[in-house]
Amino acid sequence: MRSPRQQTAARRTAVLSRRAVLATVPVALAALVAAAGPAAAGTNGSSGVGDPYFPLAGNGGYHVRHYGLTLHYDTGTRKLRGKAVLTARATQRLARFDLDFKGLDVTGLTVDGNAAGFSRNGQELLVTPRHALRDGQDFKVTVTYQGTPKSVTDPDGSADGWIRTDDGAFVAGEPQGAMTWFPANNHPRDKSSYDITVTVPQGRTAVSNGVLLGQSTAHGETTFRWRQSEPMAAYLATATVGKFKVERYTTRDGIQVYNAVDSRESSAAAPVLKKLPSVLDWESKVFGPYPFRAAGSIVDHAHSVGYALETQSRPVYDRAPDLSTLVHENAHQWFGDSVSLTTWKDIWLNEGFATYAEWLYSEQHGGDSAQKTFDGLYARPASNSLWAFPPGNPGSGAHIFDTPVYDRGAMALHELRRAVGDFTFFRILRAWAAEHRDGHGTTDRFVKLAERESGKDLHTLFNTWLYQPGKPGRS
Ligand code: ARG
Ligand code: ZN
Repeated sequence: MRSPRQQTAARRTAVLSRRAVLATVPVALAALVAAAGPAAAGTNGSSGVGDPYFPLAGNGGYHVRHYGLTLHYDTGTRKLRGKAVLTARATQRLARFDLDFKGLDVTGLTVDGNAAGFSRNGQELLVTPRHALRDGQDFKVTVTYQGTPKSVTDPDGSADGWIRTDDGAFVAGEPQGAMTWFPANNHPRDKSSYDITVTVPQGRTAVSNGVLLGQSTAHGETTFRWRQSEPMAAYLATATVGKFKVERYTTRDGIQVYNAVDSRESSAAAPVLKKLPSVLDWESKVFGPYPFRAAGSIVDHAHSVGYALETQSRPVYDRAPDLSTLVHENAHQWFGDSVSLTTWKDIWLNEGFATYAEWLYSEQHGGDSAQKTFDGLYARPASNSLWAFPPGNPGSGAHIFDTPVYDRGAMALHELRRAVGDFTFFRILRAWAAEHRDGHGTTDRFVKLAERESGKDLHTLFNTWLYQPGKPGRS
């Protein structure tokens, strides 16, 4: 779901100055190498990966290969107890490194089994291992923690993270909230596999990402063991808890589906969820093979949240979704989840694509054509919030979920389609999903791919639709 807000904005960059950027790369590299010199001696990992919209998000100096999370949530007292085992690899010598972790109390911290020093500073958990880590060294960080998790308020005013509900918690982490329930390298640039085990009172269900390995009940509590084996960005992790009705089946393509639905939403959700196999089937035809082994839906009753999230392999909805929301969140499995952002500024690569998937679905299922949807939007006056800023440059983290990112982002794709024709356009979408599967994309790489596949110079088109402020003129 979308939470449109508006504002004016924007500097011009990227595609427009592509040649200039290329020309300056050697200089920038030289500067980086120079900067790395003293840092290599200082050996402290950085407090962020350098994302201008979320400067403290993620951390420099290591890559997390795997998260093993073992959680216990008491829906009565709302207390969470957790143990996180991060299997990581140093990408530089590290005397100290940071994790992102906000709120909960840390009760123990070891690195490779040795007690490590740690301190807290806002969302940064600073860890000093007993022995400095060598560049390239594999290491294990174990953090035990407890407390009452609290969601974070994003720059756009919405809540994300561990959001309590009347019967459990709605857990969604875009862009920041993962750190409210586990210590993380909290930026999509770092992707990892996950094992998430959650114990909740008997009668509640804890739903996470990937495949359910098993569940067992003892002493009035049920433990759910989930495994997300394909790489996942931290913001896409969930451990949503509630009183859910569960439905499981395997699709003809062998995808394991797990749907969990709050009974207060089930009559509205049922006809839409019934379409999930055909939606995934259609999306697989249009975008290429579904990227994960598991799929499904978590339909919670949490209307105050105000949005749904494409949690990996199993989107979480704050209410019964309509069909276009189902199409949207599942399209993100290709665009956003399998192909991840490198920087939050490129968010249109997620939202513009998922929105365009809605237009395409409508067009191919007896609804409005994408052209008609485009025309309806284009008719909006220049003063409309749709034109408040160009989607390739939202200006700050406060605007990454605003209308221009979704709708004008989709309009940019429609303009691409008109310029290159259907055959090439759909080949571009599939090539994008295939070439960056389980990896990352950037706007520049998308533009280059589109130019390669079409053999056309698309500089002006993308510059106009992604980077120029104001309503574009008719092409
Ligand atoms: N990616 C979600 C969607 O469009 C929206 C998430 C909004 N999150 C937020 N904190 N406002 O499907
Ligand atoms: Zn979306």
